[in-house]
Order: sequence, then C-alpha cells, then structure tokens
Amino acid sequence: MKNIAILGSTGSIGVQALEVIDFNRGRFRVTALAAGGNVALLREQIVRFRPRIVAVIDEERARRLESEPGLPRGLEILSGLAGYNEIASLRENDLVLSAIVGAAGLVPTMTAVEAGKNVALANKETLVMGGALVMEKAAAKGVRILPVDSEHSAIFQCLQGSRAEEIKRIILTASGGPFRTWTREELRRARPDQALRHPNWSMGRKITIDSATMMNKGLEIIEARWLFAVNPEQIEVVVHPQSIVHSLVEFRDGSVLAQLGQPDMRLPISYAFSWPERLAGAGPFLDFRNIPALEFHPPDADRFPCLSLAAEALRIGGTMPAVLNGANEIAVQAFLEEKILFTHIPQVIAAAMESHRVVTSPTLRDILGADGESRERAVKIIEERRDWSV
Ligand SMILES: NC(=O)c1ccc[n+]([C@@H]2O[C@H](COP(=O)([O-])OP(=O)(O)OC[C@H]3O[C@@H](n4cnc5c(N)ncnc54)[C@H](OP(=O)(O)O)[C@@H]3O)[C@@H](O)[C@H]2O)c1
Repeated sequence: MKNIAILGSTGSIGVQALEVIDFNRGRFRVTALAAGGNVALLREQIVRFRPRIVAVIDEERARRLESEPGLPRGLEILSGLAGYNEIASLRENDLVLSAIVGAAGLVPTMTAVEAGKNVALANKETLVMGGALVMEKAAAKGVRILPVDSEHSAIFQCLQGSRAEEIKRIILTASGGPFRTWTREELRRARPDQALRHPNWSMGRKITIDSATMMNKGLEIIEARWLFAVNPEQIEVVVHPQSIVHSLVEFRDGSVLAQLGQPDMRLPISYAFSWPERLAGAGPFLDFRNIPALEFHPPDADRFPCLSLAAEALRIGGTMPAVLNGANEIAVQAFLEEKILFTHIPQVIAAAMESHRVVTSPTLRDILGADGESRERAVKIIEERRDWSV
C-alpha cells in the first residue's frame, strides 16, 4: 500500500488523482488532503477517502470545515502554510502529490523534498521558480521528482532505460490552445470566456489561460530543463493540435521515441503514482483506426511572445524565472478580471522582467523575494497602464 498526501486535492489535478486512487483502492491510501478555499468539495473528499489530517488556506475556512456534519472522528484540521507544510512532511507519506496552482506550491513542495518524500509534481511553477534548488535538494535527499505534467511524463517514459548522454533533443508538444489560428488583431480582442475554452484539455483556469498565451509551454521548457538536466538549447517546442503525441525524445543515433495516448491527465497521474510499474488504466484507449491525422507545426513566437519571454528568463537564470512566473500570475488574473487585454499579458511580464535586478545563485528567500517584488511591480504596471503598445 502506498500512502499518498495530496496538496491541491480540490483542483482539476487533485480531483483526477483521487479518481486514480479510487480506481486502485488496494494499492493507494490517502494520508492527507490540502485544499485552498473549497470547503464543500474537501468535505466530500474527506468522507470518501478518510484522510487522517487535512488543511485549508486560512483559519476561517478551517472553522467552517470543523462545523460541517459527518466528518470522521479524530480528523485533524490545519490551516495556512504551516498546515500545508505539515501535510507535505507527514511521516507516513510515501509520496506527495504537488498540485496546488502557482507560486503557492513552491514552499510545501520544497518541504516534502526536505522531509525526504518522493514527489509527484504537477505544480510546474515549483521548478520554474526554484528548479536548481529543488533538484539539488532532491538529489541530496535521494528524493524522486516524478512528473505529472503530460509532456514531462511522456519524456520521462521515453527516457526509461536510456542514459543522459544519449539524449540529443527533447521535443515538447503544444496543442496551440484555443487561439492557435487567430490573427494578432483577433488576439487583441480575445475574451476570458474564449480563452477558457481549451480545445483538448479540461484544466484549472490559470493553466488554461497559460495554454492560450503559450506561457504554459514556456514554463514547461524551464520545467524540462531542470527535470531532465538538459541544456536549454536541447529543448524544442512543436505545435501538435491533436494532443495525441504528448512529447518526444530524439537520441544521438537519430532514433525518436514518442509517448502517445488520449489527452487524459489520469494517465500521467497514474504513472507517477505507480512508477516504475504501469497500472491497468480506466481508459479511454487510443483507437488507431479512427485517429485523426497527426500534424506538427513550428510555434509562432510573434503571435505568442510568452514563449520567447520564458526562454529569455531561462537563459538569464537566477531569480528571473521567478519574476516571469510572478508577473504572469498577476497578468493572468487581471485578464480574467477584464482589467487588461489578452495581448497585454506578455507586455506586463516583459516590463516586470526589464526592471528586475537578477540574483544569480538565489536562496529560497531570494526566490520568494523576487516573486513578491515581481507581483508588486506587475500590479503597478497594470494600474498605471504606461508604455503599452496595444
Ligand atoms: N489541470 C491540468 O490538467 C494540469 C496539467 C498539467 C499540469 N498542471 C499543473 O498542476 C497545478 C494545478 O493545476 P490545476 O489545473 O489542478 O489547478 P486548479 O484546478 O486551479 O486547482 C488548484 C488547486 O490549488 C488550490 N489552491 C489555489 N490557490 C491556493 C493557495 N494560494 N494556497 C493553497 N492552495 C491553493 C485550489 O484550492 P481550492 O480550489 O480549494 O481553492 C485547488 O485545490 C498547476 O501548477 C498546473 O500548472 C495542471
């Protein structure tokens, strides 16, 4: 029996992870669940999965949860970062699923690594912000970081049994999002409801907007650099609208391995939970007689400048990726609240990056400092609306 704690159990990944656990009751047990503010869904999950301990974002939510009927006796209810950290480092955990969205995932994930817990990593922002630190600490503690992101799971699967020096290129596939074929003028007028309609995946709001701007792929380039210890020049992006080929690895002999499957996050979640084994899946399976034609195109960095911004942040390194990420989170939220246009998102990020003084070998404190500074700066940029070439 593998004991699993879930950070972000009420999100899109968290809910699908619980489906995987439900389907494999004899193999996995839930030790702890951490949510943000969705007390009603967390209550349902508690009743169904009987964790020993849970956490929510603040005291007020914790009190609300306490007053819910039907909770198991002896359930411990915690709140805030201290609660998330406690859950991440429980003695009985064999694995921690890191599925909180955004920068808020970094510290609890780092806590799990420091406690020597293997991590199934969905929260890509952890490696974007603190890739060097997290991977260094994981190596020191003998901790496995098992990718949940479908592209990184694909690469991880393609790399089983091969050596690092044999990798020539990592090729990340991107669906292109809902605006893949939109013109610059159409992008300028893109509304949040349109951006939230992803053609292939059903995901949380933040990552869905990141897919529309292609920042998601930019963040994934940074994530891949750290997960697989490759140089940025070895990572390429191709647009593959069908989302059937989840990513590819080219080896030095010219062979290319790809991982294919239906666009369903339960597959990479299940692999991260069961690695190095494969579990019987709940489907859906690919039917090669009815598969659509598989297309591959180069990405258009002119229409989707977030890709280049992420590549630039990775090239500069140090605290710059944390600045990219922090400004992106603020800009995405502002777009969702209709305070800025879709095409302003990369402009806010670029302006935040321009004014940042990079710390080259940052500590966790430096990274969190850069994140905070970037958020403040992005808020200011949005308020002032200066120098924007719309
Ligand atoms: N969804 C996907 O298919 C997918 C695929 C690949 C990678 N990922 C990555 O997985 C992570 C989660 O994505 P998602 O789509 O599942 O997001 P989501 O649906 O928005 O869920 C986010 C989860 O984090 C919690 N949360 C939000 N803000 C928080 C905070 N400040 N402190 C603590 N908890 C907080 C939410 O709690 P409440 O809802 O209770 O407030 C929820 O449980 C992201 O990093 C994303 O990039 C997602």
